[in-house]
Amino acid sequence: MIRIALTGYMGAGKTTVGKALAKELHVPFYDLDWYIEERFHKTIAQIFAEKGEAGFRKTEQQMLHEVAEFENIVLSCGGGTPCFFDNMEYLNRQADTVYLKASPEVLFQHLKMGKTERPLLKNKTEEEMILFIRESLAAREPFYNQARHIVDVNLLETHSKIKETVYQLRKTINI
Ligand code: S3P
Repeated sequence: MIRIALTGYMGAGKTTVGKALAKELHVPFYDLDWYIEERFHKTIAQIFAEKGEAGFRKTEQQMLHEVAEFENIVLSCGGGTPCFFDNMEYLNRQADTVYLKASPEVLFQHLKMGKTERPLLKNKTEEEMILFIRESLAAREPFYNQARHIVDVNLLETHSKIKETVYQLRKTINI
């Protein structure tokens, strides 16, 4: 049974790599954020606005417990998922966990474009964003580092690099 959970900071490429990996393994791909949005017919930004971050985290945990029961899937978690409640321990019990590790500079480059959809980055200047990424990544790494496997994705920028990362990931987790 294949159940792989990708974790890592926003902008690490969890969704991109997860999709490519699922395709190669011929299993369905789930993105926890998308799953939440479909279940509630609301965007993540709307849920944050309505319930605040604490409310979102509760919903996120509940939805994690639904999806992580599915068999034969690749799951991409939200950047904060492993860092709340006992989510990381739960993920390690349920799945083969991978931390897609990238530096704050690379994450910043990836996130500059899509920051409007990410409530935690909204209304931040570039300087504030890089500071926020550095600080929150440092606070989150103890959780991410509990993943069973760590794959460096600093080079993930073009299509061939995605393929390379998937290759590396498969070698690392031996699948
Ligand atoms: C979050 C990351 C987002 C999403 C929410 C909060 C975080 O997911 O769950 O905006 O706390 O890092 P992505 O990592 O897929 O952007």
